[in-house]
Amino acid sequence: MIKFDEKNRIFYLETNNTSYIFGLLKDKHPVHIYWGSKIAEISSFEDAVPVDVRAFCTVDEKNQIPEETLTMEFAALGTDVRTPSFHAFYEDGTGLSKLSYKSYKIFNGKPALKGLPAIYTESDSEAQTLELELADDLKGLSIFVCYSVLPQYDVITKSVRVKNNGNEKIKLSRVMSSTVDFRSEDFDFIHLAGAWATERHISREAVMTGIQMIDSKRGSSSHHHNPFFALASKGADEENGNVYGFSLMYSGNFVAGTEKTYYDITRAFIGINPFNFGWNLNPGDEFQSPEAVLVYSDRGIGKMSRLFHKVARERICRGKYRDEMRPVLINNWEATYFEFTESDIISIAKKAKEAGVELMVLDDGWFGKRDGGNSSLGDWVPYKEKLPDGIEGLAGKIENMGMKFGLWFEPEMISPDSDLYRAHPDWCLHVKGRERTLGRNQLILDFTREDVREYIKNAVCSILSTAPVSYVKWDFNRNMSEVGSALLDEEHQCEVYHRYVLGVYEVMEHILKNHPDVLFEGCSGGGGRFDLGWLYYMPQIWTSDDSDAIERLEIQEGTSMVYPACTMGAHVSAVPNHQVGRNTPLNTRGLVAMSGQFGYELDLAKLSDEEFEEVKEQIKLYKEIRETVQHGEMYRLKSPQKDNCAAWEYVKDDDVVLFYHNILARANSPYERVKLCGLDENAKYKDLETGKIYGGDYLSKFGIYKTHGSEFTSEIIRFKKIQ
Ligand code: GLA
Repeated sequence: MIKFDEKNRIFYLETNNTSYIFGLLKDKHPVHIYWGSKIAEISSFEDAVPVDVRAFCTVDEKNQIPEETLTMEFAALGTDVRTPSFHAFYEDGTGLSKLSYKSYKIFNGKPALKGLPAIYTESDSEAQTLELELADDLKGLSIFVCYSVLPQYDVITKSVRVKNNGNEKIKLSRVMSSTVDFRSEDFDFIHLAGAWATERHISREAVMTGIQMIDSKRGSSSHHHNPFFALASKGADEENGNVYGFSLMYSGNFVAGTEKTYYDITRAFIGINPFNFGWNLNPGDEFQSPEAVLVYSDRGIGKMSRLFHKVARERICRGKYRDEMRPVLINNWEATYFEFTESDIISIAKKAKEAGVELMVLDDGWFGKRDGGNSSLGDWVPYKEKLPDGIEGLAGKIENMGMKFGLWFEPEMISPDSDLYRAHPDWCLHVKGRERTLGRNQLILDFTREDVREYIKNAVCSILSTAPVSYVKWDFNRNMSEVGSALLDEEHQCEVYHRYVLGVYEVMEHILKNHPDVLFEGCSGGGGRFDLGWLYYMPQIWTSDDSDAIERLEIQEGTSMVYPACTMGAHVSAVPNHQVGRNTPLNTRGLVAMSGQFGYELDLAKLSDEEFEEVKEQIKLYKEIRETVQHGEMYRLKSPQKDNCAAWEYVKDDDVVLFYHNILARANSPYERVKLCGLDENAKYKDLETGKIYGGDYLSKFGIYKTHGSEFTSEIIRFKKIQ
C-alpha cells in the first residue's frame, strides 16, 4: 500500500488500481513524480523530475534547486513563487517560509481528524497512512502532510497538520489540504456551478495559463460553487479518458483551482478559502486542515463519479441509514407552507400512509409564533395554536398510524423577532458598530460560542428525547455577512468563519452521539450546503428547492458527479410547479425523483383518484428498485445538458434499472441509441416488463433505440440478469 524506497528516496502510495509517487530531491524537496494507473517501481526519479534552472529562477547556493520549475508536493511561499500550499506570517512581519523534508512515518489505519469530518475505516487493514514532516527550522514550524490510501476504494486522502514548535506566534493565512503539480498535461477543468434553485450544473472549460479558481466566501460550501473539481484530459467523456477528481470534506468557505505556468506545469489546489482567513498558532499549538479526497479514473468521468459514490456511501455516511434503505417520505412544505394545523398534517399523513409512504415530515412553522419567514427562529418550542399537543402529541399520533415522524429545524439561525434574540442580542454573528444585515429576515447564531452551542444542543436534543422523532431536516437559509464574534478579541476575528464550521460539526457530533438512529437530511435553501463534509453528519441532503422534474435533470446530473443517489433528496411536487410554473406528467415527476432519495412534497388528497392510484404504483415500484438505485453503481448514458434527454442507469448485483427522460419534443427526430454499461457481457438479461431476453454484450455494444417522443415524458426499463 505505502512504501518508502530508502535508497532512492521515493514514496509509493498504491491503491488497487492506482499509483501516486513522489520523491525527495536532494533529500530536501518533496517532488511529485506520478499519479495515475498503477505502475511498477522505478529505480531513480532523475529522468522523471527534470531539474532545470531557467533565467530568473531563484536557487539555493548548495543544491541549485529551482522550485519554480519543479512539480512540488507541497510548496510554501518562498522560493516557489506560484500559488502556494502554505503561507503564514511571523512576528517579524515577514510571510516567508522555507520548508525541508524532516521525517516520515508510515502506519496502518487512518486516524480521525480532530473536530473535522473524514473518511473512516472499519478496521486498520482498510487503509495505510503516511505522515510526511516538512520543517522550517528557523521558525520552529513543522508541517505534517498526511496521505492515506484506501486500496479497495481507489481513494487517496490528504490533509495537513501544522505545529508551532517555536517560541513566537505564527499567523496562518493559507493552508491547502491538497496540492498536486502535473507536468505537460493538457486538461479541462470540470466543476459544478449554480445559484439558489439551480445548483450544481456541470461546467467544463480548458485549463488556462494563469490562475483559474472557484470558491465560496458565503460561510458555507454554497449554491454557487461546490468544493469539487476534476481535471480531465482533452476529449475525456463519461467512459473514456483520464480524469482526476478532487473534493474537500468541508462545509465552509473553500477555494479550489489551478495555476498553469509557462513551463507547462499545472498546479491543482483545494482547501479552506484564504480569503478573510487567519489562524493564530501560539507556541505549542496545532492546526488541522480539512481532508481532501482524491480519485483517479482511467475510464472517464463516470468512473470518477462511481469512485466518489462508493466511498461516500460506505465510508463517509454513518449511522444505521448507511446500510438500511432510506424511507419514502412526504413533506408538507409545498403543500401548506406556513399555514397548517395539527389536523392538516394528520390528514396529509393519513393519505400518504394509504399510498405506502413511510415517513411524515413536518417542515417550517411549528415553533415559537412562526407564521411566516420573519420570526421565532431560535425559539424551539412548539407553537401551541397550531399544535395543541406539541410535537410529542403529533409525533405520537403519526407513529400510531404506523408511520415515522420527521421534523424541520434551522438550528443555526436566529430571528430578530424571537425571545432568544431579545434575551441574547449578542448571540448572533455581528461586527460591533455595523448594521446586522438580514438574509430571509434572519441572522446567524454565533456557533463559535460555547454558550450558543450548548443552547442549541439542548434545544434540539430535548425535542428528540421527548418526542418520537425519527428524522430531522436541518436547514440553513442564508449566506453569512458581518462575520464577527462578540467574544473574540481583534486578533481572533479572522478565525470566525472556520471556528463557526468547527462549532457546527461539534454540535452535530453531540446530537448524533445522543440520537444515533435519527436520520438527518441536510438542507440550505435546497442544496446550498451539499458537500462530503456535511454527508459525514447527514447521509442525505435536499438537492434543490427547485422541484420541477425537468430542471431537476441537470441539477441531479451535476450533483451525481460526486454524490450518490442515496444522498440526494428528490420529491414529486404539484403542478403547475411552484418554482417554474411548468406542467409535467406525474409519471415523469415520479421517475425523475426515483433517481434520488424518493419522496413527495404535495397534498396527496388534492390528486384525482386516478392520480392517487398512480402514486401508489410509484411507491410500490420505488420500494422494489430502491436498493439498486440507492446502493448501485450509476452510469450517465445521456446528458440533459447535451442530448435533449437523460438516460441514467443503476446496476447492483443482478438488477439493472434504466431511466429515460425526454426533454423537448422534436418533429421527425432521429433515434437516440442508448448503450448500457456495467453489464456482464457474457450473461443474459431479461426485460422485466416485456419478458424479452437480451445478451449483456448486445445491450452494451448495440444498445437500445429511443425516440424523442412527447415532451417531458419518462420511462423506466428494468432488466434482470438471468444466467
Ligand atoms: C428552505 C428549504 C425548504 C423549506 C423552507 C422552509 O427554503 O429549502 O425546503 O424547508 O426552507 O422555510
